[in-house]
Amino acid sequence: MASLKNVLRLGVCLFAWIISTADSAVPTAENVRWVSLDFKTILTWTVKEPNHKFTILYSVGDEDWQESQDCIQVSELECELTNDLQPFDRNYSADIQTDTTDDDYTADEPPHTISTIFNPYKESNISAVKFTVKSVDKNRVIVNITDPLTSIHQRLKQLSIRDIFKHDLKYKISYYKSGSTGKRDITSDTSEAEVPNLDEGQGYCFMVAAFIPSRPKNTQLGAWSGQLCTRGGPGGVTDLSLGAWVGAIFVLLTVLIIIITVTVLCCRRRRERNSFQTSQSSAPI
Ligand SMILES: *[C@@H]1O[C@H](CO)[C@@H](O)[C@H](O)[C@H]1NC(C)=O
Ligand SMILES: *[C@@H]1O[C@H](CO)[C@@H](O)[C@H](O)[C@H]1NC(C)=O
Repeated sequence: MASLKNVLRLGVCLFAWIISTADSAVPTAENVRWVSLDFKTILTWTVKEPNHKFTILYSVGDEDWQESQDCIQVSELECELTNDLQPFDRNYSADIQTDTTDDDYTADEPPHTISTIFNPYKESNISAVKFTVKSVDKNRVIVNITDPLTSIHQRLKQLSIRDIFKHDLKYKISYYKSGSTGKRDITSDTSEAEVPNLDEGQGYCFMVAAFIPSRPKNTQLGAWSGQLCTRGGPGGVTDLSLGAWVGAIFVLLTVLIIIITVTVLCCRRRRERNSFQTSQSSAPI
């Protein structure tokens, strides 16, 4: 009787061992992360043992799982889901299934890991913008912002973030007077923003970031741009764009050429007058 119990116990142990080795032979994805910039969205993960293939499924809300066409039996540890996650303002989840052969797994459900929920409209990061600064008069400038392009193409057109966010997209413009530390902020509804009430003759530095107030607090602000400064001067704020530099250099060169010409002409004339006087004085009386 006792020996039968021992055999049973051994059997149970053996079974558990087989299960556990089978389990470790098919690792599930770990550290699943969404990485998304300007609506290009990639799912990444890690795995303890290499040499496995994965198939990615996604679902929107509580709807059925669908296979992502580009991520069937892939050996990479990432899958781009940019074109699957549309419409943008929905809650998506992804399911990373480790592909198995019948040899190493026989359960109904393949080993898999479900991601956290991701909403591209609310969570995709927005990159830094490009912009120019142009003075309007002594106290105002226009900050002209180029809306960053996304990775989304619709009807042969590459959409900008303005095409996607529409009126939800604002820009935050942060600026300060050269040599001072006090920063001021304004929010603009449009991509062409007027910054008023600048001090005449002062230089200012500007930085811009996309701003989407309808989003949760931690994803409202895009990356800050580099800063662009204007130079102070008697004519009010002057922008230091390439055009302005070229203009300034041209004016300087012109002035220089005029000075040189005038000097040369004057000298020649004086020399002529001198030689005339000399020839007069040396003339026989
Ligand atoms: C957005 O950027 C932040 C900061 O770099 C990063 O921590 C976060 O994971 C990014 N989010 C996505 C969805 O890529
Ligand atoms: C802003 O830039 C766009 C092109 O980048 C240009 O078409 C537009 O005229 C500019 N506006 C101003 C006020 O400079």
